Amino acid sequence: MYLKRYILSIIYLVVLMVFHAFINYLDFTEYFTSRTSTEADFTKKIYDYIVVGAGSAGALVARRLAEDENVQVLVLEAGKHVNKLLEIPSLGVILQKTQYDWQYRTVPQDTSCFALDGNSSHWPRGKIVGGSSMLNNLIYVRGHPDDYNEWFQNKEGYNYAKDVLTYFERLEISPSNAGGSVYVDDLPYKTELPKILLKAVKDLGFSMIDNMNTAKQGFGVPKINIINGRRWTTASHFIHSKPWNVLFRTNALADQVRFHANFEAYGVEFLYSGNRYLAKASKGIILSAGVINTPTILMRSGVGPRKHLKEVGIAPRVDLPVGENLQDHITTGFDLVLLNKTLDIGIGTMLSPSSILSYLQEGRGPWTTIGCELIGFIATTKGIPKENSIRPDLQLMIMPLGIVEDTGFHLRRLMGISDYSWNRYFSALNNESTVTFCQCYCARRVEDTSD
Ligand SMILES: *[C@@H]1O[C@H](CO)[C@@H](O)[C@H](O)[C@H]1NC(C)=O
Ligand SMILES: *[C@@H]1O[C@H](CO)[C@@H](O)[C@H](O)[C@H]1NC(C)=O
Ligand SMILES: *[C@@H]1O[C@H](CO)[C@@H](O)[C@H](O)[C@H]1NC(C)=O
Repeated sequence: MYLKRYILSIIYLVVLMVFHAFINYLDFTEYFTSRTSTEADFTKKIYDYIVVGAGSAGALVARRLAEDENVQVLVLEAGKHVNKLLEIPSLGVILQKTQYDWQYRTVPQDTSCFALDGNSSHWPRGKIVGGSSMLNNLIYVRGHPDDYNEWFQNKEGYNYAKDVLTYFERLEISPSNAGGSVYVDDLPYKTELPKILLKAVKDLGFSMIDNMNTAKQGFGVPKINIINGRRWTTASHFIHSKPWNVLFRTNALADQVRFHANFEAYGVEFLYSGNRYLAKASKGIILSAGVINTPTILMRSGVGPRKHLKEVGIAPRVDLPVGENLQDHITTGFDLVLLNKTLDIGIGTMLSPSSILSYLQEGRGPWTTIGCELIGFIATTKGIPKENSIRPDLQLMIMPLGIVEDTGFHLRRLMGISDYSWNRYFSALNNESTVTFCQCYCARRVEDTSD
């Protein structure tokens, strides 16, 4: 068993190297086409809007703004365009730690991350058109209504159905909403794991959820952003139709926002091909560069906590708590469960000719796997829930593979598992069939900001 897995892992590694060579080639060709493109006159004119970041939020905002034909939008994206090949769902995870990932790491943690190299957690963030939704597991969850209700509790006249739900419904493509932005569909491929586990959780008294977006507690198979076996992001529309009034400037790293004396923003300074440019907008500038880059751009523009800006030598312009109250879905990584049989999903299955053929011919099969087959939402503080109205604080993500699947060649490096923890915990499981029960803390934390 171990030898077979070891050999498969080596083949996997070779395939990975070919893949990396391929994306380097894409880089190389994009570099030349972007050099020779005539888009370079973008600095001469004044746009109506500039959108910084073409990720999940930015691509959607750009598309909606451009519905007004009288409006011209410039989108600045630090990463590159998407190649169709990168839309294969199962490739998402291996785009981490490549040039499509900002490859952020946390500072060494004092109270957590002890199993990771340098006590530091890897934070993959997409650096590509489509943003982090090009690197993630495609899972589509609206979020619990109570989260939104809490955010907007002080807003007069706020109403969930009118102010939140309407926009989800507008976002999701459906027979009655062809103008939506994202496809939401069922998993095209799954192992027998969800079926077996759903039986078990039912015995334990949890409810089954048909649609993860009905905000109940319980377990169910996730809905994902996919169409015909291909990953779908809010930027995908731009690959298929290029509105004349939206200009994408890829490889453009936004540095800071420029303001008039009255604090009205009028432009974005960005770096492109080694030079610094200024793009101007007459109606608005939207920063949608993600939870790390948006605050960073604001701070470089002098908008942020005065004390911190002074420490790093930036002249403060507006004193605001920018970058505080960051929320993340914290998880553990040691949640392997042993099986006495193998599921139809490992490296052997992925690399088999029949899997490749069924993907190429029909857009189906193991290559469409997203790495997560069952989700559970639980309110741990209230015991096993009988009542659906309690807001869950724990999300279980159940994955049909453990990170020992490739005997430590690659997956553990994406997570940054240290040698110490690998040798003491994981390596003994190298010849076992494992699944992962990933536990994400999903309650919103209200920070104590008194300090
Ligand atoms: C990580 O945390 C452990 C336990 O507190 C400590 O012994 C070790 O020095 C830390 N390592 C780094 C690189 O911070
Ligand atoms: C795995 O374990 C279960 C429970 O003990 C048992 O019913 C089943 O037959 C076992 N399967 C194999 C392939 O050993
Ligand atoms: C897996 O390997 C470990 C040592 O690496 C060994 O102790 C164990 O018996 C093996 N298990 C199986 C099922 O072969």
